[in-house]
Parts: sequence; C-alpha cells; structure tokens
Amino acid sequence: MGLVKMKELLKQASEKNRAVGAFSVGNLEMVKGAVKAAEEMNTSIILQIAEVRLPHSPLMLMGPMMVEAARNAKVDIAVHLDHGKTLPVLKQALDYGFTSVMMDGSTLPFEENMAKTLEAVRLAREYGATVEAELGLVGGSEDGSIDEGIRCTNPDDARTFCQRTGVDALAVAIGNAHGNYPVAPRLAFDVLKAIDQKLDVPLVLHGGTGITPEDFRKAIGLGIRKINIATASFDSLTKEAEQYLESEGKHDYFGLNEAMVRGVYENVRQHIRIFQCIEPLT
Ligand code: 13P
Repeated sequence: MGLVKMKELLKQASEKNRAVGAFSVGNLEMVKGAVKAAEEMNTSIILQIAEVRLPHSPLMLMGPMMVEAARNAKVDIAVHLDHGKTLPVLKQALDYGFTSVMMDGSTLPFEENMAKTLEAVRLAREYGATVEAELGLVGGSEDGSIDEGIRCTNPDDARTFCQRTGVDALAVAIGNAHGNYPVAPRLAFDVLKAIDQKLDVPLVLHGGTGITPEDFRKAIGLGIRKINIATASFDSLTKEAEQYLESEGKHDYFGLNEAMVRGVYENVRQHIRIFQCIEPLT
C-alpha cells in the first residue's frame, strides 16, 4: 500500500479487464477527496496534475503533497504528471517522486512527437518511472485554453510509435475531448478496436468527463486501462462549495474545506464504481 509505479496499476487493471481512474487534482481538498474515495472503496487510483495547471497549482507545492498523500494512503496510488510538455518539468516531477510522467507531443508531426517522447522515456528510465505518450489529437486541452481539433489515432502509426519509443501507455484519440462535451460524444470504437489489436500497450482515455457508463465499459473491453477525469471533479467541487456558501447560517473556511473535499470525493467515488464495473448499467 502507498506510492506505486503506474505501470503496476495498469498491469493489474489489464489482468482484471478494468481501468484505473486517473483523477486530476489542483489543491489540498482535491487530493483529500480523491484519496478518501479510493480508501473507502479499497481501490487503487492515480493522482495527476497537468503541466498547464501549474500556474494555479505550483508543482513545488502540489508535487510533495501528492506524493506524501500517496505514500500514506491505505491503497496503492501512482502519482502522475499529466500532459507534460517540457523535459525540465518532467524532471522536476520525477525529482519530487512522481512515479509516472506523460510527454504530450500530440500536436507535433509524427517523427518529432516520437523524438520528444524518446527523450522522456530515457529520462524516466533513470527514475524507474512509467511513461505515457499521446498519438493522434484529443480535442481541447486540460484547461480549455487551446483546441486544435480532433485527429483519430492511426493504428499502424500507433504500433510503430510504441515499438520505437518503448512507452508504457498510449493515450488514444477516438473522438474524445477535454472539458464538458457540447453534445454527447460518439467514440470511434472501431478505431479503438484496431489499435488494441495491433498493440500490446495499455491504452489511455482522456476527456473522461461526460462519457456515459456504457461507453466507458465498452472502451475498457477494448483495451482502455487508464481513464482521465478532471472537469467533473473541478465542477463537483465548485457545486458543493456554492451550495455550502448559499446555505443558511454562518460560513467559515473549515465548512468550505469540507464541502470541497466532499465534492471531489463524490465524483471520484462515482467514477471508481464505473471503472471497477461495480455499478450496474441502467
Ligand atoms: P476531462 O476534463 O474531460 O475529464 O479530461 C481529463 C483529462 O483527460 C486530463 O488529461
């Protein structure tokens, strides 16, 4: 129990035909809420933060907190840098003890993405850490500031990419996007199936917020082993905080703290139930 390598969690998920939830965090309350849900459900999770979030949630503060929370947890937790863009930030995260990093070169041409990913793999190997990369283009960005569209992952390119870089996990683009979907997404399961048949690498689904339980299950059946959830947790935290502040009586930080923890806890719990195939489909 405690801090583990992401690779181990992906392996366990593959063996059980499940997915591990990777929950984005941006403050103390989010870390507490996610860990509480994982512990109560006796389930391994991944705590992650994206490079683009660091202006609001500096790595020098978040990094040690996330790693310590994982070390002291009653369940296995991997700590991951989501959408890493630069080697110095990857190195900083690894120095804090992150057990996994993502190098996101998805907006680059194929060869450049591969070269950048290889640099990340070489660096992470010095720490024994796991590496995730992305091929194709998932819509939007973690903080909603950029949207270069969606480009589905090419299954043959995915095989070449994984063979040449040696990554441990690959984020695929199958019509998924970050943030709240304006209309329910139609995921390209045929593309996912083709990728899964050509690769022996755990696949990652970004843009988890708003995907239906049924589509999550279908994706898990086709090789998705890590599912990223960010927006739903931020929204749930905000909603609980709003309800608290709009409630009768006097308010203080401690009540607000508990509301924020509760918001994240509820959302993480709900997603764990789906990813672990506990929740019956309605
Ligand atoms: P959502 O914000 O859509 O849940 O996506 C999260 C994500 O993919 C983080 O990388």
